[in-house]
Amino acid sequence: MKIGLLGHGVVGSGVRQIIDEGATWEVRELEVVKILVKDESELTDPRCTLDFNDILNDPEISIVAECMGGLEPAHTFAKKALEKGKHVVTSNKKMLATFCMDLFETAVKSGVTVHYEASCGGGIPWMASLDRTRRVDDIEGFRGIFNGTTNYILDRMKKEGTDFSEMLSEAQKLGYAERDPSDDIDGYDVRYKVALSCVKAFDTLVNIDDITTFGIRNIRKEDLDWCAANGMTCKLIGSGKHFDGFVSACVIPTFLRGDDIFSNIPSNFNIIESQSKTLGAAAFVGQGAGSLPTAHAVVQNIVDIWKNQDPEINDKFAKPVDNQVHKGTFYIRTAKQAGFADLIDRRVGELAFITKKISLVEAAAACAAANDESLFIAEVAE
Ligand SMILES: NC(=O)c1ccc[n+]([C@@H]2O[C@H](COP(=O)([O-])OP(=O)(O)OC[C@H]3O[C@@H](n4cnc5c(N)ncnc54)[C@H](OP(=O)(O)O)[C@@H]3O)[C@@H](O)[C@H]2O)c1
Repeated sequence: MKIGLLGHGVVGSGVRQIIDEGATWEVRELEVVKILVKDESELTDPRCTLDFNDILNDPEISIVAECMGGLEPAHTFAKKALEKGKHVVTSNKKMLATFCMDLFETAVKSGVTVHYEASCGGGIPWMASLDRTRRVDDIEGFRGIFNGTTNYILDRMKKEGTDFSEMLSEAQKLGYAERDPSDDIDGYDVRYKVALSCVKAFDTLVNIDDITTFGIRNIRKEDLDWCAANGMTCKLIGSGKHFDGFVSACVIPTFLRGDDIFSNIPSNFNIIESQSKTLGAAAFVGQGAGSLPTAHAVVQNIVDIWKNQDPEINDKFAKPVDNQVHKGTFYIRTAKQAGFADLIDRRVGELAFITKKISLVEAAAACAAANDESLFIAEVAE
């Protein structure tokens, strides 16, 4: 089976390496025949090309593996490949979560598939597990620590009592965080993964902008001090739940109780858990990123296509996100408290308070109305 690879960076070079090395008989059935690169200096392999059309118009290539990242031209290239009757495997959560509907519709029209295991949890077999679980069970919900960078920062802040900015620079020095860390620390990376998990778990397309999202950009040592004094640990949690006719889905820092398995996930590890009727809770822990683990997931999808396991051909239905059903108590720290008077249950510091039990929609609306750039919110686990 011949493969065209788009992008030859961290993930793409890992895909090329795994397929070239061919450790198993399945992988030895695969061959990377062309690799799209951007710059002449990257023409390091005779298979490299600067022209996407060399891959698009090669009738022997039946699978395109997109590992370039970004929205464009990744979206256009993936769409053109699908229209040409080529399967697409992608590690690009941002592109797929944004253009999900368009790409799935195109795939269905062309009788091919889109696979995206690597886009969510890197090498952790999260999507494959959802595929298996939902063959037997309705998946009721999922939650996860989907982002290694923010977990690293929160873990080190807790263990060393340091402040956010110090830990962010350390994560950047270690290569865990990008020079522009916004997607990680503002929760958007997790939001893309929550959207794609909704597709797989619930056969549901959701609008990413409807996923209520709070990150950890404004977290301070004093927030974690309060958390620790109350026997809790802060983690950035992405979650989704399925209801008749709608889903709830959000990303929010959450103060977890010490006996919650999630509170002990260290460093840059991920954990993702599904909840279904007969299986109950099933969790996966591992490195959610890295060249070879992520490439492993891409190659798994390629083998799935070759073996003709095509779960993605199922129809997907768009469902709205409604977070009125997501009720909880929230820790909020803000200097602009005027609009919160009716929501406060008790104060836990000069600027911080715990809300009454309210919906996430109510909490998010009050936070938006406060218009305080340094506001921090976390959900407090029951
Ligand atoms: N790294 C991980 O551990 C990991 C884990 C899970 C998912 N992912 C996802 O996988 C995707 C790739 O990530 P990565 O870490 O491999 O990124 P990367 O190291 O930056 O690799 C992307 C490569 O694609 C190239 N590229 C970009 N636009 C191109 C174009 N128009 N034509 C040809 N080549 C182009 C880039 O070239 P330039 O550098 O010259 O721009 C770069 O070499 C992203 O969507 C990322 O979110 C990554």
